[in-house]
Amino acid sequence: MSWLEPYYLVIKALHIISVVAWMAGLLYLPRLFVYHADAPVGSPMAETFKAMERRLLRGIMNPAFVAVYVFGIALACTPGVVDWHAGWIYAKLTLVALLTVFHHLLALWRKDFAADRNRRPARFYRMVNELPTLALIGIVIFVVVKPF
Ligand code: HEM
Repeated sequence: MSWLEPYYLVIKALHIISVVAWMAGLLYLPRLFVYHADAPVGSPMAETFKAMERRLLRGIMNPAFVAVYVFGIALACTPGVVDWHAGWIYAKLTLVALLTVFHHLLALWRKDFAADRNRRPARFYRMVNELPTLALIGIVIFVVVKPF
């Protein structure tokens, strides 16, 4: 994959831009659920939340998720970028896998809201809202500090 080498910095820039867009959605969508959970079913406010959640997931989070993977895998395939004997890349990929599961759970919960069948309280979404922040802190430390 040596043909990727001249594009390393451009790919890394695109990777970071996609990561920021994906993280914005992973942090904002559960925050919308916190307010949506307390909005009466059928109210104009609940219908507005449905439209905001659908646009956020389909318009920003899904494309950003794909872009993070495409550019991340391209970086991992660029010769000399990853020392596959070091531990940080495996720790990072574990947290990325957890964020991926979280993304898909959010997509399922959005469908529940869209069908007016959410039964989880606002407190639940307020708690899960902290998880992507913790994963982000871990990932950035693993890729930048490379502690092991
Ligand atoms: C399939 C998923 C992913 C793969 C395969 C991947 C892989 C990589 C690789 C190989 C690098 C280059 C490291 C270097 O230049 O030393 C990198 C950089 C980076 N990644 Fe990812 N990544 C993925 C997802 C993510 C996610 C989800 C985040 C954050 C939430 C993230 C944050 C970063 C950051 C901030 C950098 C720049 C580090 C630096 O300063 O060099 N990545 N990624």
